[in-house]
Amino acid sequence: MAKGLFISFEGIDGAGKSTHVEALARAFKQAQRRVTLTREPGGTPLAEKLRNMVLNDVMDPLTEALLIFSARRDHLKNMIEPALERGDVVLCDRFTDATFAYQGHGRQFNLEVLSQLERWVQQIENSTQLRQPDMTLWFSLDPSIAAKRLVGARIPDRFESQPIDFFQKVHLGYQSRMNASPQRFVCINADQTKEQVWGDVVTTMTQKQWLLAHDFLNSGQAS
Ligand code: TYD
Repeated sequence: MAKGLFISFEGIDGAGKSTHVEALARAFKQAQRRVTLTREPGGTPLAEKLRNMVLNDVMDPLTEALLIFSARRDHLKNMIEPALERGDVVLCDRFTDATFAYQGHGRQFNLEVLSQLERWVQQIENSTQLRQPDMTLWFSLDPSIAAKRLVGARIPDRFESQPIDFFQKVHLGYQSRMNASPQRFVCINADQTKEQVWGDVVTTMTQKQWLLAHDFLNSGQAS
């Protein structure tokens, strides 16, 4: 049985990661891998309820952090860990790096508290290790360009409606998470055409030998 693989996708709102998550799912399926495509906050019925609260209800920063980590706990226990156990490729649209970037750096919430919650929530059963993605693709984009892309796109949630200096901080938050775990992160330049960004995603996967060039023939991203 193939070994489970956990890949997370990160970036500020407007960086354009989500279409690539879906295309990558198609490529892994083409390679005969079982894929669990999921997102945070969310992914399970309970975590989706918590997501709705986090994105729409006004709350203080500690409440927000606790709800996000509660959602993550449920998601890990009931979806991510069983999927990895089965040998699935788990593609997760955002994970804990988003919490450090948005809550920690964007909202300036205490990073030590977030680290403590990360240790509690992500500890692997019967181990001292924390569950972390095998790879994190960070779609890096200047916040002023992201803001232009988002104009008129849809009704903004509590995060999308934040001013640009919030996203500058979030961007720096991602940078500092990457500096702390350079072996896990791959920085994708999102200031390119969708086809070029996808080309970089393909190169990353083939270099790792997680996928071969022909697995991408029907993934349908570049159009
Ligand atoms: P997003 O991936 O942008 O979903 P959608 O494309 O449907 O809008 O995620 C929703 C928002 O949640 C995004 O603005 C970032 C925020 N978020 C946090 O603030 N902290 C977190 O830990 C996570 C996972 C997301």
